[in-house]
Amino acid sequence: MSNATRKAASPQNFMQTSYKIRRASSADITEICAVSLSATKKFSGIPALADLGRDEEEPATVRKWLSLGRIYLAEVEEGQALGFIAAYPMDDIVYIAEISTHGSSQGRGVGSALLNTVFQWARDRAAHDGVSMARVSLTTYADVIWNGPWYRKRGFKEVDAASIGPRHVEKMTKDKQERNMVRPGYRRCCMLWEAEASQQ
Ligand SMILES: CC(C)(COP(=O)(O)OP(=O)(O)OC[C@H]1O[C@@H](n2cnc3c(N)ncnc32)[C@H](O)[C@@H]1OP(=O)(O)O)[C@@H](O)C(=O)NCCC(=O)NCCS
Repeated sequence: MSNATRKAASPQNFMQTSYKIRRASSADITEICAVSLSATKKFSGIPALADLGRDEEEPATVRKWLSLGRIYLAEVEEGQALGFIAAYPMDDIVYIAEISTHGSSQGRGVGSALLNTVFQWARDRAAHDGVSMARVSLTTYADVIWNGPWYRKRGFKEVDAASIGPRHVEKMTKDKQERNMVRPGYRRCCMLWEAEASQQ
């Protein structure tokens, strides 16, 4: 799955760009930071969240994600990344730390393909660990159209962070208190996706 060639449909001219999804390594850190910066510019259009649009992911953070779990990169060819997803085990389930599609490639299915790659990893991991259900979590803005509603459409449900585990509660608290991400009218929430483990 992760190395399959896919097509990103362009809504403007129906041309298609082929890309692959592969595991990222430390050699991809600069590229990943550039995609993250481009993707978060989307928040510049929301006055209350506009400062988030200027946030650039630190190389140290990307290095931490690589050491804790996996990053999958969607790329046309080396050096031409369209998007990435970073996920790692937290409270015994797969937690998505970030998913970002480059601003020029959004709305063409790249984010959905990256999400499906992590779903497959979670299914395989659950089967390997002898757990019947695969679970994937994240924290996000409940009502920003490309956050909560986008995940809901892809099978996530809003849950109480405490029902997953203490590290999810810590993450929600950090988003609010240290990262100042909760703004008037913009609620943060914890979401969970569940499916049966892969058949072994
Ligand atoms: C969330 C994100 C990764 C989705 O990536 P993507 O490649 O655009 O995702 P897809 O093309 O698979 O899906 C886009 C869908 O959202 C819909 N959509 C709704 N509003 C949209 C908007 N303002 N911009 C883009 N897509 C929008 C599209 O119509 C499409 O719907 P579909 O499922 O009916 O096709 C991307 O929007 C992004 O990088 N956002 C900024 C970073 C971010 O907020 N990440 C999540 C943090 S929790």
